[in-house]
Amino acid sequence: MIIGVPKEIKNNENRVALTPGGAKELIKRGHTVYVQSTAGIGSGFSDEEYVAAGAQLLPTIEETYAIAEMIMKVKEPIEAEYSLIKKDQLLFTYFHFASYEPLTRAMIEQKPVCLAYETVERADRSLPLLIPMSEVAGRMATQEGAKYLEKPMGGRGILLGGVPGVKPAKVIVIGGGIVGTQATKIAAGMGADVTIMDIDLYRLRQLDDIMPANVKTMVSSEHNIREEIKDADMVVGAVLIPGAKAPHLITKDMLSSMRDGAVLVDVAVDQGGCFETTKPTTHAEPVFEVDGVMHYCVANMPGAVPYTSTLALTNATLPYAIQLADKGWEAACRDNEELKKGLNIIGGEVVYKAVADAFDLEYKNVEDFLLAKA
Ligand SMILES: NC(=O)c1ccc[n+]([C@@H]2O[C@H](COP(=O)([O-])OP(=O)(O)OC[C@H]3O[C@@H](n4cnc5c(N)ncnc54)[C@H](O)[C@@H]3O)[C@@H](O)[C@H]2O)c1
Repeated sequence: MIIGVPKEIKNNENRVALTPGGAKELIKRGHTVYVQSTAGIGSGFSDEEYVAAGAQLLPTIEETYAIAEMIMKVKEPIEAEYSLIKKDQLLFTYFHFASYEPLTRAMIEQKPVCLAYETVERADRSLPLLIPMSEVAGRMATQEGAKYLEKPMGGRGILLGGVPGVKPAKVIVIGGGIVGTQATKIAAGMGADVTIMDIDLYRLRQLDDIMPANVKTMVSSEHNIREEIKDADMVVGAVLIPGAKAPHLITKDMLSSMRDGAVLVDVAVDQGGCFETTKPTTHAEPVFEVDGVMHYCVANMPGAVPYTSTLALTNATLPYAIQLADKGWEAACRDNEELKKGLNIIGGEVVYKAVADAFDLEYKNVEDFLLAKA
């Protein structure tokens, strides 16, 4: 198969979808890999390293899209890329369709096969291509929140761990999945007073067993959130309803009850955000203020630590990319339920229910589609 790796052009996105090591694995299996020149530079991989691995360099993004049967990316295509995408071309990347209708409509129109990292799903319902980025974003959420709690950064000027004789900051983490667990771990490690909330009692029991004594667990409900945020210094939003828009768990009216200079970190911003006042931001301008409360809502948090993120992501995507390249997407998805779950749009048809529901679009069952194609 001919695989193309374009350079990411989203603001401050320095990750790349394939490392030179990954390129070598694909080439060893007889595939051809084209990498857009300087695509890996932001993650510390030079053009020379890709060439040494056997990949071929292309000077422009247009040529990279034009030649490839499978495009491997990190972020969803942005508007400038829509017209470069070809009918029947396989796109293997993050899409997050449910949070952005224009992208969904553009992919329906261009008719590629969209296999979304974020909906590839294992039998235990875990999302193997979201986990590594969630691990990065979760750990970073606390690091960024702590930074914006500093006075010169606009925060209330409290040190997360306090000092002997001075109470630590109070951190609320809403959502006890991968992001929430990692954010909690770092906040607890820094000495904060942490409460982690989830609607899943079994999850809370597990967390209660493994977390240190400065972490409490609490059921997530409107009442509990309203009460807990009143004296919180930092709130991390880390909920997920797979494939769907995040629910608004902190509404605008609740902000007035919060402390001035408190920080909200909405990691779920890529699914629409779990705070009503969330607006997506970038690393160039990560924060804004509403009613005295700082909001950090960067949609591609792992993009700021591209070295760690690229390695973490490609460790997880490469085994799937190899299956897609070796067998083609149809056979690979028929053979592997995990990959099949990743199919969102095929040739203009929406085959992922939550995406169709989000925009009232017609839904086609992916099984019928694969059978029809067999
Ligand atoms: N901004 C970024 O750069 C970035 C990076 C990685 C992940 N994310 C996003 O972070 C979010 C969380 O991802 P994850 O991997 O931790 O998901 P996850 O599935 O591991 O965890 C989500 C948790 O939210 C809980 N939940 C659902 N509804 C809830 C509610 N009303 N109250 C409290 N908890 C609730 C679930 O029970 C689950 O435990 C997702 O939206 C994901 O897309 C963003």
